[in-house]
Amino acid sequence: MFTTRSPETELDPIAEHPRITVLGVGYLGATHAVCMAALGFEVLGVDVDQQKIQELSSGRVPFFEPGLQEKLSEVLRTGRLAFTTDLDAAVRFGDVHFICVGTPQSIDSDAADLTFVERAFEALASRARRKALLVGKSTVPIGTAERLTAMVNTRSPIGEALELAWNPEFLREGFAVDDTLHPDRLVFGVASGWAERQLRAVYAPMLRRGTPLVVADLATAELVKVAANSFLATKISYINAMAEVCEATGADVDRLAEALSHDERIGGKFLKPGLGFGGGCLPKDLRAFAHRAEELGVGRAVAFLHEIDDINTRRRFRFVDLVRDLAGGDLHGARVAALGAAFKPNSDDVRDAPALDVARMLALEGADVVVYDPEANENAHRTYPDLDYAGSLAEAVTKADVVALLTEWDEFGRADPNELGALVNARRIVDGRHALDADAYREAGWIFRALGQPTEPVGMITREAQAVN
Ligand code: UDX
Repeated sequence: MFTTRSPETELDPIAEHPRITVLGVGYLGATHAVCMAALGFEVLGVDVDQQKIQELSSGRVPFFEPGLQEKLSEVLRTGRLAFTTDLDAAVRFGDVHFICVGTPQSIDSDAADLTFVERAFEALASRARRKALLVGKSTVPIGTAERLTAMVNTRSPIGEALELAWNPEFLREGFAVDDTLHPDRLVFGVASGWAERQLRAVYAPMLRRGTPLVVADLATAELVKVAANSFLATKISYINAMAEVCEATGADVDRLAEALSHDERIGGKFLKPGLGFGGGCLPKDLRAFAHRAEELGVGRAVAFLHEIDDINTRRRFRFVDLVRDLAGGDLHGARVAALGAAFKPNSDDVRDAPALDVARMLALEGADVVVYDPEANENAHRTYPDLDYAGSLAEAVTKADVVALLTEWDEFGRADPNELGALVNARRIVDGRHALDADAYREAGWIFRALGQPTEPVGMITREAQAVN
């Protein structure tokens, strides 16, 4: 299916249409592989997980990502994309190898676990027989690329002919295809002109469109990613810290955020108060960055990131307080409908999800929690098999004493407060994502609470007194 490299081009892969391999076909890698093939490149996706490779080869995306399934089917038909577990074949095939394996948080510390990254680079280096570029995309601590360069040069039979670059990825889950095909910027961390030319060839379609490009050294490219994610996390925690102040003063954090957002220097994005950030990136990147800064002797420079993390966690406790209040001061035996489990809408990812964590905390206090997420029930069940899961919104809220909105799926925003009200045991709701029309709920007779919003006086709430249905 793929074209064959002629001996001349094998000596120095052409900077025109390099053949691409992608190691690690999770969220990041699978999307990158599919999109690069969609842009016209020949691409080989590689993973150690046989099942993942089988599913992708047969045209099925093993996770939920809007638009990716259609794109995969489309490019498989062109014959430009294939998947394999065979690393030798990948090394023979690729001119530019993208390493997209995970860097999860270590089990026993805040540091990033680099086992998979190191393994991938080592496996490629030890098999290399011709000049190629190894490009790290995974988020890593600053200094990793330099260390890996030394390792790769030592392990590779062709020595320094095997080069290394870092090319951080900024895609958001839920928008992965669009973010990959239309990135807002490209960052190349390179150590040579040759490496830069290879990356320019790979990203030629975007560069021709005028996508901003920053060419930097390896360490800067590594730092860009964690600095960006830390900034986003800081912005979210900033408004959530303001929500705490609002709660103490009776001010309204939504009006506050709105007023701040009109200042162009501040802007309204990532200023949405609520249950805070989660997912496979922001929380662990923040922690790994603070950990690495301490190792580098500049821990104080980013010490505030610990506070950002703490503010984020405190929102979950505060949310549980609100649910407990609405349940009459005690969660034992209270039936709580937990709407959402994914860390954000349009995703089935429950890694470090505030939603699922809150559901777990409510259950630990004795609540009878029924979780419903339009896409993440399966992953959530795997993580917390002891919680109850409902197959629909209606089933989840039926006979609920309190409804907890945890992930802002459109389905929840569209729901009719009167129809939901007819199903619950009591019309009480806590909106953890500021996603619902508070007035519409109040008009329909609900007691409505949200983080950082003033509460209307409802007198002493007891479970029996508020059971209106
Ligand atoms: C993030 C970065 O945006 C992306 O550039 C990087 O490559 C990977 O990490 P992602 O994890 O997909 O992407 O999620 P994102 O859309 O950034 O949201 C992160 C979390 O912040 C979610 O839990 C979301 O609910 C929360 N959030 C976001 C808020 O609480 N308030 C906001 O205003 C925005």
